[in-house]
Amino acid sequence: MSPDYSAILAAIASEVAPLTREGKVADYIPSLAEVPLEQFGMAVVTLDGRRYSVGAADQRFSIQSISKLFALTLAFRQLGDELWERVGREPSGNPFNSLVQLEHESGKPRNPFINAGALAVTDVLCRHSVNAELAVLHFLRRLSGADDVQFDHAVASSEAQTGHRNAAMAHFMKSFGRIVSPVDELLNSYFHQCSIAMSCEELATAALFLANRGVVPATGERLLTASEAKRISAVLLTCGTYDAAGDFAYRVGLPAKSGVGGGIVAVVPGELAVCVWSPGLDANGNSLAGGMALERFTTLAGNSIF
Ligand code: DON
Repeated sequence: MSPDYSAILAAIASEVAPLTREGKVADYIPSLAEVPLEQFGMAVVTLDGRRYSVGAADQRFSIQSISKLFALTLAFRQLGDELWERVGREPSGNPFNSLVQLEHESGKPRNPFINAGALAVTDVLCRHSVNAELAVLHFLRRLSGADDVQFDHAVASSEAQTGHRNAAMAHFMKSFGRIVSPVDELLNSYFHQCSIAMSCEELATAALFLANRGVVPATGERLLTASEAKRISAVLLTCGTYDAAGDFAYRVGLPAKSGVGGGIVAVVPGELAVCVWSPGLDANGNSLAGGMALERFTTLAGNSIF
């Protein structure tokens, strides 16, 4: 029998409400610092088309690093296994914006979900598409079925003005010969991908192909082979929540991708995709209430991958 997702989401929303006050919004991107803290939304979409939600599940927020999942999917479709020559697939054990490993590892990022790895992936997209950020935007529109998903240009330019660590990273990787595109073009594309605004309902819908062995359930379109979908899910599990990935696997037990806008997307293979949003972050840059909500979700529904 299917779990009662409506009741589970309602219980989670009331349980985590006090936690929504405790995190800290991502103030290193000035326009994200303006987002009110005490907000929470969560949506579940099943492979057979059932939808459940609670709170502000239809409110759009800055997807930030969640875009890295979709950019990776596009680049993996383009390059296949050759992609792993440009970016690794090991957890970094370091903060998402760290530069230290790059020096020791000749500019090859540990994985596609830390910022350095996403820059390497974006470099691939810049060379294979006319406009890399539009490729990601159109991909997200197609997957979510929401044609009006847009960049938030204010967020993108706010990050462009303050994104010195990402600029340093891109130049550093280029010094190792690992970036082909002009750095300005690369950063502009990356910041725009991160600025895309979507809701929990839209993001959960967009991630469903991963839960469905690479096939978009609504259209039957195959984006990845079952084996490729398994591989991307594995990298999500081990690297999708940065240096907290071990703790996430322990507490939640699902492949998941977080973003500093406060969103986290996770998939239950063969069943559903779930997205939670609450802007207050923990010290690792993952949504504090969101992480707890997912932990309660797999506990109450009894459906982690383990
Ligand atoms: O590059 C950055 O720092 C942001 N645009 C994205 C970082 C992010 O979302 C990390 N997630 N927890």
